[in-house]
Formats: sequence, C-alpha cells, structure tokens
Amino acid sequence: MTGAAMTGAAMTGAAMTGAAMTGAAMNKLGVGVIGANRWAEAAHLPAFAAHPRVQLVAICDVLPERARALQTRFGAAKVYFDHRELLADPAIQAVDVCTPTQTHLALSLDAIAAGKHVLCEKPLHTQAGPAFAAAAAADSRGVRTKLGFTFRYSPAIREIKRWISEGVLGDIFHIHGFEQNSQFLDPDFPLRQLAPDVPRDRLVPASIIGYGSHLLDLMRWLGGEFHSVAATMRNFVPERQVLGMSGRQKIQVEDATVALVEFDSGAQGLVQSSYIAVGNYPGVEIRVYGSKGAAIARLITEGGIAETLKHASAEAVEFKEVVLDTAHFPPGTSLATPWPELYYRNLIRHFVDEILEDGAAECTFHDGAKSQQIVDAIIAAHAERRWVRLPEGDA
Ligand SMILES: NC(=O)c1ccc[n+]([C@@H]2O[C@H](COP(=O)([O-])OP(=O)(O)OC[C@H]3O[C@@H](n4cnc5c(N)ncnc54)[C@H](O)[C@@H]3O)[C@@H](O)[C@H]2O)c1
Repeated sequence: MTGAAMTGAAMTGAAMTGAAMTGAAMNKLGVGVIGANRWAEAAHLPAFAAHPRVQLVAICDVLPERARALQTRFGAAKVYFDHRELLADPAIQAVDVCTPTQTHLALSLDAIAAGKHVLCEKPLHTQAGPAFAAAAAADSRGVRTKLGFTFRYSPAIREIKRWISEGVLGDIFHIHGFEQNSQFLDPDFPLRQLAPDVPRDRLVPASIIGYGSHLLDLMRWLGGEFHSVAATMRNFVPERQVLGMSGRQKIQVEDATVALVEFDSGAQGLVQSSYIAVGNYPGVEIRVYGSKGAAIARLITEGGIAETLKHASAEAVEFKEVVLDTAHFPPGTSLATPWPELYYRNLIRHFVDEILEDGAAECTFHDGAKSQQIVDAIIAAHAERRWVRLPEGDA
C-alpha cells in the first residue's frame, strides 16, 4: 500500500475492519471507483477529487489502460483490474459503481457483502424485485447506499422540493416531467447499455430505463407515490449502431415513451422520455402546478448556463426567473459549471456528508427500486394497452 493511501483517517479506516463506519469514526472517507470511462471521468471523479474529505484510494477497470489513465488524471493512490481486489482493500470505506447497466446489481451486492457503503449508477437493476432485495441487503449489513439520480442534485430541483415542502406552491395538482434530447437521433452514433443477448423480436425498453428511471424518481420525490400509469412506447430508428456490435443492428429499441400518471395524492402527471427529440443535454424539464403557485425548471444547457428556474403565483401569473440559493451549490460551482460536474459534485457532497456526519439518507437503493417499479408498470401498461396500478409496498 502506498503512503498516500495510508495517511490521515484512511489509516483509521484501514485499522478498523468491516468498513461500515459512520460519523465521528472517520474524518475522511476512503473511496474506490469501479468503472473508468466516460461518465466516471466527466462526473464522478471530478466530484470525488473536489471533496476535501475524500481520499481517492483506488480506481478499478477491467481494461488496465483506462484505470491507469484516470489514476494519473485524478491522483488515485492505486489501480485494480478486478473489483474483488478493490473490495478487499481496507483503506476503502465507500465504493462507487460506474460500469455498464447490466453489471450494477452484482457489483453493488459484492460491495455490500464486503461491508462498503455504495454509490451506484442508475438503474440498479432492470427489474424492481432484485433492486428491493439489494436495498434490504444494505440495510441488514448496515451500509449506506445512494443511487446516481443526477437530477435530484440540480439546484433548481432542490429549490422546487423546498417550495413544495414549505407549502409555497400549495396543494399540488400537476407534475409534468420530460427527459428528451437528440443523443441517439443519428443511427450511426452507437447506443450503449444493451446486453449482447438483447432480444431481436420485440420492443426493447431503453429510453424509459436510461432516461425514465431518474425522471420518474424526480417526479416521485416531488409528488409522492404513484398510484397508476398508462403509457405508449415506440421504436423510431429501426436500425442503429450498438456499442460492441459491428454494423447497424435491427433492434426495436424503445426510443421514446409517453405516460400518464395518477399519484396517490390525486395529482396528475405527464412523463416523456426520448432519445430522439431534437434539443440539447440533458434535456430535463419539470413543471409543477399547485393551488398557490407553479414552478418550471429547465435543466437544458443554453448559452453556457446549466439550468433555469421560473416561478409564478396565483396572484402574479407571469412566470419570472428565480435567482437560485447559493446553499444549493457545492463550493466553487455555479450555473456556468458543466452540468455533469455541477450535479455530481452536489450528489457526492451529499453522499459523503451523509456517511461522515451520520445524516439522513436520501436517494437510496430503495428509491432506485421504487423508480424501477414505476418503469416496470409503464412497460406493462404499454404492452397490455391498459392502466396499471402500482404495487402497494415493496414488490
Ligand atoms: N446519471 C447520469 O446522468 C448518467 C449519465 C451517463 C451515464 N450514466 C451511467 O453511468 C454508467 C457508466 O457510463 P459510461 O458511459 O462511462 O459507460 P462505459 O461503458 O463507457 O464505461 C464503463 C467502464 O466500466 C468498465 N467495466 C465494465 N465492467 C467492469 C467490471 N466488472 N469491473 C470493472 N470495470 C468494469 C468498462 O471497461 C468501462 O471502462 C452507465 O451505467 C451509464 O448508464 C449515468
């Protein structure tokens, strides 16, 4: 082990077995990142590197050159090429899973079994049942979890959450959520996150998983539990390139979904996820309408500005732009910070602080499982051409 990995509180961590320590036991959190490619480089690693109470202990990738490149760039003490070696490292208390979708659950379960706190990219799994089981496993092992639901950590979304909690918007009538951009409009821009054995004879849910999972989490966070959904899903690009496969593939990728929502509260919702709607990233828009006021957050980079928030009240119905509270921004960031870094620095600030300060858990694997339950209901609603009632409780 290098000197860098054994300084300060990482040494405290190393001396204590079963790394699920919290609060006063640690001054710094030893972190290991699994998966060292695009998203780790753009979002996760800048966030860990910027946090003063994080010791970036190791980066792991099955492709050694990727692990080494990001080790050099972000100053990690060590590299691993097998996640089991990273999980055996006693200097690591928290693990970040930033690998392809189909590996998320297995890597997270291994990390939980090793007694590590886990941050995992969304979705945790493409079915709700195994995601609930992982949330329960983490609870019984006494480790913290966080799902990479990036947009919960948008300053504009956090302000809307505060307005709803404080009654500024009154009783909530409508919550509309969109995540749409033109990332996969060009059939020769390779689609990612499809397993090699993807079925060729039916529609393959894609945008509702890749985009919908965190959009639905946002709507549930703001509006409470979903009661029922109705939906339509479609493939618009019949042949496209897919990462890891050669030539254009005839796969019925679900490029877009529109869904109607009834919340338990009685509020109504509208959802759209689209891989092929012309527009800039990330293309998230949330509109909330209540008895006292309304809010529109646009998380769409325009003119170098990551997002805008507008508010109208029942008395003054013209929407006006709101100056966002600096408390919602991690130190050193602003609306000019690129959105992956701005939101992820906020997400990781919350993850680290929740562990070190023993704070209230937020955006956990349980939330990931609840969001997946809604994705599953939307897929069933489309397939069966009917309204689908969400299961009550964890199923
Ligand atoms: N939250 C968001 O807004 C957001 C945005 C972009 C991507 N993502 C998610 O982030 C994840 C990573 O995205 P990406 O574009 O960087 O993916 P990627 O496929 O480009 O990179 C993943 C890396 O993980 C490595 N890897 C795969 N299996 C591994 C294993 N078992 N052990 C160690 N390394 C392994 C691969 O070699 C690769 O370098 C995906 O799940 C993606 O859906 C989330």
